[in-house]
Amino acid sequence: MKKVSKCVFPVAGLGTRFLPATKASPKEMMPVVDKPLIQYAVEEAAAAGITDMVFVTGRTKRSIEDHFDKAYELESELEAAGKQELLAIVRSAAPSGINCIYLRQQQALGLGHAVLCAAPVIGDEPFAVILADDLMDGEPPIMRQMVDNFGRYGRSVVAVQEVPQDQTQSYGIVSVKPGTPDFQQVTAIVEKPRPENAPSRLAVVGRYIFTSTIFDHLRNLKPGSGGELQLTDGISALLAEEAVLAFSFAGTRYDCGSKLGYMQAVLAFARKHPEIGPSFEAHLAALDLPRG
Ligand code: UTP
Repeated sequence: MKKVSKCVFPVAGLGTRFLPATKASPKEMMPVVDKPLIQYAVEEAAAAGITDMVFVTGRTKRSIEDHFDKAYELESELEAAGKQELLAIVRSAAPSGINCIYLRQQQALGLGHAVLCAAPVIGDEPFAVILADDLMDGEPPIMRQMVDNFGRYGRSVVAVQEVPQDQTQSYGIVSVKPGTPDFQQVTAIVEKPRPENAPSRLAVVGRYIFTSTIFDHLRNLKPGSGGELQLTDGISALLAEEAVLAFSFAGTRYDCGSKLGYMQAVLAFARKHPEIGPSFEAHLAALDLPRG
């Protein structure tokens, strides 16, 4: 079985739900306490043993490249000032031993198209996809759980989570054959169904592992929901050829593409932050919020 050594990060979306914050800077660079979303995503991939980070970027996304690059001026100033701790933080933005590869999606035509842009770099290997705006908190990290299970089954895997019936219109929704508690075979997938048409409440969230067969199907995509080239439609076509597994991961997901999910992530990560956690807890206690 081929090892999963590459991860695609589609970061070329417009981030319209977060305007005006995302007018001139990427959604993926929004910080949760002190690290941008994209750094959490890259750390999660690295913790899964992935070494090649493939970013599909677009206009206004230059700061992502800068974030994982060497910061000569800043580093030499910190060094000259003897600020070793800060220097270490700056240098650790990119986990050691990784390669960063940047591709451009010239137009935000949809997530399916963004993943297809990475085909020349991926070749015929299995690969992971992480959507950085879905911030995941789990131990072991969610992509680690998925890579380990890919090693066992050798099938494409999509991470799924139950969502309330009235939210199916925000997700790709799968129907599945009963299987083990965490893995089930996907029988169908549909993008953003209305609650009354949804085949289940199992929503696909931003973690995937694909065999390279997915590219054959992404090449044939036609505009789908919202006029975009949808990854969901590519997965639906893949199902006719190969088994795809739905993985109910152990952990918490924060939808940082939405304002509410982002604020929930900031709150949760601030409470357990080694530096500010205790004082933030004390602050919350002083607010005397009703506990629910
Ligand atoms: P979203 O559906 O969250 O879209 O994309 P978006 O444009 O980022 O945000 P909104 O909905 O307008 O607020 C899911 C992921 O797919 C990437 C996004 O960057 C995000 O990580 N994406 C989406 C692309 O890279 N290219 C696209 O054409 C569309």
